Amino acid sequence: MESSMKSLSSDFSYYLKTFNLFLDRSTEHMCMQKFIDEKLPDVVASIGKEGSSSLNVLGVGSGSGKIDFEILGKIKSKHPGLSIRNEVVEPNPEQLSSYKAERKHATGHDWRKPLAQIVLHTNLVMSVGLNTSFTWNHMSSEEYEKKAKESHEIKQFDFIHMIQMLYYVESVHDSIKYFHSLLETNGKLLIIIVSDDGGWHSLWETFGSRFPRSCLFLDVRKMLDDMRMKYKIYELSSDLDITEYFIEGNENGELLLDFLTESLHFRKTAPTDLKAEVLQYLRQPQCSREENGKIIFNNNLQAIVVNY
Ligand SMILES: C[S@@+](CC[C@H](N)C(=O)[O-])C[C@H]1O[C@@H](n2cnc3c(N)ncnc32)[C@H](O)[C@@H]1O
Repeated sequence: MESSMKSLSSDFSYYLKTFNLFLDRSTEHMCMQKFIDEKLPDVVASIGKEGSSSLNVLGVGSGSGKIDFEILGKIKSKHPGLSIRNEVVEPNPEQLSSYKAERKHATGHDWRKPLAQIVLHTNLVMSVGLNTSFTWNHMSSEEYEKKAKESHEIKQFDFIHMIQMLYYVESVHDSIKYFHSLLETNGKLLIIIVSDDGGWHSLWETFGSRFPRSCLFLDVRKMLDDMRMKYKIYELSSDLDITEYFIEGNENGELLLDFLTESLHFRKTAPTDLKAEVLQYLRQPQCSREENGKIIFNNNLQAIVVNY
C-alpha cells in the first residue's frame, strides 16, 4: 500500500454510496438477473433432500438482498410445495437494514424506476415472504464460521450463494471449503465473481499491491480443481460506464474510482504517479473500450455453480 491510503471497506456508509453508484452505472445486476431468469431454474430444480418439506438457503455477503429475493423467487417457483428457511450473513449494518426493510414492508424501491418494475419487484418480495422464514446474522463470513464451530451446531443448506463478496474474505480457499462443507445432499453453491479476462482482473493484477487493501482476485477455478470439486461456469457479460472518471472534479467519477480501487478518496490520497498510471490504464483495451463517446469498462462476471 502507498502513503496514507485507506481501504474503502473501513467506512460502511461510504462503501455503500460507491457500491450503489457502481450498480447504477453498470449492468451488474441486470446480467445477474438474466442468469437467474434463464439458467437458475434448471440449477435449483434438483436441490432438496428427498422427503424433506423445507429447503434451507444461505446468502453470504447478501448486501441489501435484492438478488437474494430474485433467487428465492426462482427456488420457490421450482419447489412450490416446500417452505424455505432463508439465512443471511452480512456485516454491513446499513445493507442488512435495507434487506430487513424490504422483507418487512416490501418497500425501499428506487422510485426512479418504471412503476411496472416496482410493482413486479414488490410482488416478488411479497410472494417470497409467504412461507419463507428469515434469519439474520449481522457478521462477516469468518465470524459466522467461528460462531457455528464454537456452538457445535451442524447446519446444512440446500442452496448457498456467495455473490461478488469473495474479494473481502480473509481466505478465499478456506471460505469456499467451509461453505461447501455445509451443503446438504443435492445442494448447490453459487459463486459469482469477476471474470478472469475482464477489466477488474487486469486492473488488480497490475496495481493491486499498491492499493490499500489486497482484494483477492484469485483463480477460483484452480482452487475448485485442487479441492476436486465439480462445478459448471456460466459467463455473464457486463459493462460499467466509467466516462465520468475522466471528467476532472466530477464527484461521481471520484466515487466510482474509489469503488474500483477499493480506496477511500483515491484521488485525494493516492500518490500522483499511481493516480496518473491508473487513469491511463483504465483506458487501455485490457480494461475498456470506447463506444459512442463513452468509455465502457469490461465488468464481465462468472457464475460458478459448485455441486454437493
Ligand atoms: C459487492 S457487495 C455484493 C452484495 C450483493 N451480494 C450483491 O451482489 O448485490 C459485497 C458485500 O459483501 C459484504 N462483505 C464484505 N466482507 C464480507 C465478509 N467478510 N463476509 C461476508 N460478507 C462480506 C459487504 O458488506 C457487501 O454487502
